[in-house]
Amino acid sequence: MLSDLKLVIFDLDGVLTETSRQHFKAWQTLAAKYDIDLDPSFEVHLKGVSRKASLDKILSLSSRHFTEAEKDAMQAEKNAHYQQLIANFSKEDCFEGAHELLHFLQKKGIHMALASASKNGPKLIRALEIDRYFGYVADPTQHPGKPAPDLFLAPMHHYGLTPNQCLGVEDAVAGIAAIKAANMTAIGIGELGSLPEADAEYTTLADFAQVIMKHLT
Ligand code: BG6
Ligand code: MG
Repeated sequence: MLSDLKLVIFDLDGVLTETSRQHFKAWQTLAAKYDIDLDPSFEVHLKGVSRKASLDKILSLSSRHFTEAEKDAMQAEKNAHYQQLIANFSKEDCFEGAHELLHFLQKKGIHMALASASKNGPKLIRALEIDRYFGYVADPTQHPGKPAPDLFLAPMHHYGLTPNQCLGVEDAVAGIAAIKAANMTAIGIGELGSLPEADAEYTTLADFAQVIMKHLT
């Protein structure tokens, strides 16, 4: 499989940097204002899920009805808080091994793309100083969200490739489902056993980086 590899498609939040925590913290703060107690165990249901879909899942925990205008205001409030939480993000906030892996793949002539559900993705990769590695950034406003395969298929089509030439890297259940729906090999990053649908799981990005760099050297 690795001998055919032409494109690695990365998720961003929770894969290249630890922004999952900030996303969830911002949701918890918002939910608390409406007397919704967001238990940490709920985070798994929000990872990889769009802002709007995340809010709908959170509000389903409440018996109150919310108007569309209220929901729009809530999304804006969560996003403002999230942006505040990541305002000082810089190169140092990438996960260990991220810069090294991206640099290695570039030197090997392997394309890299971003398939993040986050509308903050383009700004965040600039802050992390990794934007130059990505030849294609899938636009989450133009495609159905994960678990639909579209965010992973878009970069594949951009480069005129087939699924067997692509590898997807994800930390979310919805993201692994999206990669598998695209018929690609799925690499899961996170606690071992938490992404059972993945083809291979690694606790950290650094662990995955070590393995792939060894195989491709
Ligand atoms: C995903 C995160 O990457 O992006 C989700 O895992 C988040 O938690 C989603 O809701 C959308 O992000 P944003 O920045 O557009 O609200
Ligand atoms: Mg993620």
